[in-house]
Amino acid sequence: MSETSPKLRAELEGIPTYKPGKPAAAGDGPVAYKLSSNENPYPPLPGVLESVGAAAGAFNRYPDMACTGLMNELADRFGVPLTHLATGTGSVGVAQQLVQATSGPGDEVMYAWRSFEAYPIITRISGATPVQVPLTPGDVHDLDAMADALTDRTRLVFVCNPNNPTGTAVRRAELERFLDRVPGDVLVVLDEAYKEFVRDVEVPDGVELYRERPNVCVLRTFSKAYGLAGLRVGFAIAHEPVAAALRKTAVPFGVSQLAQDAAVASLRAEDALLGRVGSLVCERTRVVDTLRGQGWTVPDTQANFVWLRLGERTVDFAAVCEQAGVVVRPFAGEGVRVTVGETEANDIFLKTAEGFRKEF
Ligand SMILES: Cc1ncc(COP(=O)(O)O)c(C=O)c1O
Repeated sequence: MSETSPKLRAELEGIPTYKPGKPAAAGDGPVAYKLSSNENPYPPLPGVLESVGAAAGAFNRYPDMACTGLMNELADRFGVPLTHLATGTGSVGVAQQLVQATSGPGDEVMYAWRSFEAYPIITRISGATPVQVPLTPGDVHDLDAMADALTDRTRLVFVCNPNNPTGTAVRRAELERFLDRVPGDVLVVLDEAYKEFVRDVEVPDGVELYRERPNVCVLRTFSKAYGLAGLRVGFAIAHEPVAAALRKTAVPFGVSQLAQDAAVASLRAEDALLGRVGSLVCERTRVVDTLRGQGWTVPDTQANFVWLRLGERTVDFAAVCEQAGVVVRPFAGEGVRVTVGETEANDIFLKTAEGFRKEF
């Protein structure tokens, strides 16, 4: 066998592999709930299994590459032209395409930190330079500092709204002020993966901002509120030429027919969706109020998860939660992100947090 190995791009060295939320333990042990990936605890929405079942009988065929049915449904729902839409393998797939389409070596991609952990990975895969702007002490995007950090090399800025993992959201006035400071040739990606859970009326709908601003692109996903994380489908709403660039950078046939049909059926089950999201938001309020009552500082969350800044105790806390039967998402040295899940799971988490607080 040859001693040499294929030459890989130097940029890949040191890029961490994306770390998924830890699965719940399987087997005969105590019940374990997964609160580590911001998934939806509910089964598929009404009509979804039926439509997926029909699509499953045609696996021997490639999917509709243009995602025609889904694109039409989205165009109608958002009141946007078909040419302003692009689908992808989850919104993380679309985010990667956006970076590929805009940024390469010598270019800068900016985002808050801490934020969605895929941003540094997809930036460095493209060979671009990550510019990470710390969150404010209250764990919110520091949009003034981000505007100050723009350079003539900035090509793309992610604004994760609400932010993963802190759940905090930026409001209309501050976001508009920021957008006014961003040059028109810099793409601003409003990553709204958790949009459906937002209840603060001051938090803008990115689609409204996109309408007036050709450099704004909105990312949405079917993975969270819609409960289709396992099927991998997300989409972007953006003006030309951004949407056209997304269609060019897409992996052909990336979105399966199952995913397309399930997404359409989910969009049509709006009432059930709103009911479920409403229940999760109620649970979120209960979780946040209880934690605060226990003495924790919890930032206001507009997403389906909460953030506890535990610093050096982060990993210990995650271990205690796991022993109790809930798997949470630790970011060592910083904090844990805990998805709002089934009531029983939330109860276990709250009880564990209460016990831990006493010795914190
Ligand atoms: C902020 C944010 N954006 C995008 C994604 C990606 O979701 P998906 O690729 O499943 O659509 C996630 C998932 O955790 C997220 O938290």
